[in-house]
Amino acid sequence: MSLFVRKPIARIVAESEGGEHHLKKTLGPKSLIALGIGAIIGAGLFSLTGIAAAENAGPAVVLSFGVAAVACTFAGMCYSELASMIPVAGSAYTYTYATMGEFIAWIIGWDLVLEYAVASSVVAVSWSRYVVSFFKDWGIQLPVQFTACQFDPTPGVVNVPAMLIIVGISILLMLGIKESANVNAVIVVVKMAVVLTFIFVGAHYINRNNYHPFIPPNTGTFGEYGISGIMRAAGVIFFAYIGFDSVSTAAQESRNPTKDIPIGILGSLFICTILYLAFSFVLTGMVNYKMMRGDAAPVATAINLTPYPWLQMMIKFGIISGFTSVILVMLLGQSRVFYSMSRDGLLPSIFSQIHPVWKTPWKSNLIFMVLVGLGAGFLPISQLGHMTSIGTLMAFIIVCAGVLVLRYVQPHTPRPYRTPFVPLFPILGIVVCFAMMYSLNTQTWLRLILWMMIGMVIYFFYSRRHSRLNR
Ligand code: ALA
Repeated sequence: MSLFVRKPIARIVAESEGGEHHLKKTLGPKSLIALGIGAIIGAGLFSLTGIAAAENAGPAVVLSFGVAAVACTFAGMCYSELASMIPVAGSAYTYTYATMGEFIAWIIGWDLVLEYAVASSVVAVSWSRYVVSFFKDWGIQLPVQFTACQFDPTPGVVNVPAMLIIVGISILLMLGIKESANVNAVIVVVKMAVVLTFIFVGAHYINRNNYHPFIPPNTGTFGEYGISGIMRAAGVIFFAYIGFDSVSTAAQESRNPTKDIPIGILGSLFICTILYLAFSFVLTGMVNYKMMRGDAAPVATAINLTPYPWLQMMIKFGIISGFTSVILVMLLGQSRVFYSMSRDGLLPSIFSQIHPVWKTPWKSNLIFMVLVGLGAGFLPISQLGHMTSIGTLMAFIIVCAGVLVLRYVQPHTPRPYRTPFVPLFPILGIVVCFAMMYSLNTQTWLRLILWMMIGMVIYFFYSRRHSRLNR
């Protein structure tokens, strides 16, 4: 059978509704928006804003947040259209199966591991750093042997806190989608409160001189200030927006997916964009961009300029909460994509076995708990953040292309949500996402190619032979 065999949409939807392997439909629009925000606000905002301002854009980093938001909005609209037509758990993987055929669908499913599983490990390591610093503020020094791996700047043996957070969240995910969504909602309230507090308190301590020059002149090197700097910074802080698409992996657990998934995707993206623009504007107004070079905790630096040092603790707590929900939604997305791939026969059936009571793919959660936990505990995973960005951008490009293909091959299939200005918006989505991919370094590209080669070996030796559609 062909590598490009396509799965009919009617069949995808029918399969998702039948059989004993079904997931529980409990999520409404508010939970879906909260899932999006849960996945979006995290390490990108709190750690990368200062670095992108210092090294690439200056105060104009706020414009970089705007550029990345525009790219994500194009992609978000395309995700919404496909999710409303094909409301199943596999997200970009399933859309591609319906539009471009099995092989490219496999590539995307494999690529999404970079977005979901790798990001979970990366954020777990950042989580552990903040936890160590939080304890230190209370006078408790956690031993470095057990809070860092051997590849870290101050080497240790194993990063136990990073492993523990992965274990805790995986157990929660196994216990139920509703339980997970409720915990996520509480965390989202805490982290939004913290971001808003920073914006409103910080606004009183802005020094207008810090905005001059707003766009520092280019130094002659691509990506160092000027317009090219704004673009490079957009590629760096793109990580901060990753996650809104994971809402679409919850489509099969949503009560009214055709209407609510677009609300979840675009609603969470809109709220986070507003918060990001305000946050980056206030931060660069409080601290001069030149002072943030190499500062991975610029928020702490900014808070030190206010007479409220107690805010420091509160913000750190909010940041730790924020990272927790990112890991939660990313691990959720990972298990749901593999669930769909396994139901199609491209992965072993263990990934789609649903617990009789919890109604979750608990064995898959367990497997990822071990793999992601080991990655976070022992590997230099924090250096792999760019892999998540490049993998996600690739998925966005394929989803935008998927909208174009489906509009052409199935123009009459009902679309509860329609991307406006097709083909312009999907094409712009592809162009801007590719420009951001292009701005990432060669090493990241090589790692992506290597990852894809491993994926292809698995496809040709296992998935192709076991594909239900091909059989
Ligand atoms: N957007 C998520 C973060 O910034 C991945 O942590």
